[in-house]
Amino acid sequence: MTALRTHASVVASYWDAAAPTFDREPDHGLWEESTRAAWARLLARWVPEPPARVLDLGCGTGSLTVLLAAAGHRVTGVDLSPAMVGAARAKLADAGLAGEVLVGDAADPPVRGPAAPADDPGHADAIPGAPPVTPGDGWDAVVVRHLLWTMPDPLAALRRWVSLLRPGGRLVLIEGRWAESAAPSSPYGEGAEPLPWAGGVPAEALEEAIRPLVAAWMTVPLSGDPVLWGGPVDDERYAVVARSRWARRPEQGPPRLTEVLRAARR
Ligand SMILES: C[S@@+](CC[C@H](N)C(=O)[O-])C[C@H]1O[C@@H](n2cnc3c(N)ncnc32)[C@H](O)[C@@H]1O
Repeated sequence: MTALRTHASVVASYWDAAAPTFDREPDHGLWEESTRAAWARLLARWVPEPPARVLDLGCGTGSLTVLLAAAGHRVTGVDLSPAMVGAARAKLADAGLAGEVLVGDAADPPVRGPAAPADDPGHADAIPGAPPVTPGDGWDAVVVRHLLWTMPDPLAALRRWVSLLRPGGRLVLIEGRWAESAAPSSPYGEGAEPLPWAGGVPAEALEEAIRPLVAAWMTVPLSGDPVLWGGPVDDERYAVVARSRWARRPEQGPPRLTEVLRAARR
């Protein structure tokens, strides 16, 4: 068994055990209408207009997955814990909403990114003389809440997530540096890899990590809104919302104006 497998199974068992009670926290279960509405408003601001293709990584019990599906997005959730995935699927079904939820590692999610000619022979870009790949490829948004602290290689994860976006797509990272984890250490115990960002990551460090990977980003402070958390908090909570680059191969030349306008409307 490889080290990664051991780590993944340790982490999955930890969250399988946490799944039945995870939603008791107000910001996890979103059972207060005001809390749910506050998160829905933020997501509507950060994610392109519905129906967008949205990936919710480390989706847990699917609280944000459900909000995104309810807003009209085509959502795919991914989580390492089968119990969390079961809970998220049940939550979507109970709400009468469509969406898929997959068991998988967010470090390398079991989904397709932008099509490349090599792995998609039918793609127009693979045909000599055909027009270049259009900005419709890839995910419109990748949403990740409270996951980076538990990634053994958070910088590699960020690179992978950016690579899944369509040109101009959004990466929404909802993160923090939580007071209850003042002495950062991994909760997982034996068999797990070290976690460089255990206890959370300060906004400044995440900004530095994301800067070279994206076209633009903004940081939104979230500690000041008690409705989001079910009460006042005095630790650092925020979102970093980033827009991906126009990742084009040199032979494609600059994007045509129609492509830019189409992408901007999304
Ligand atoms: C703190 S919870 C956050 C859940 C959800 N994003 C939310 O905000 O309610 C962390 C989640 O990440 C999942 N997780 C941890 N490591 C993961 C990995 N490498 N790949 C996918 N999911 C992972 C856990 O199973 C758990 O559901």
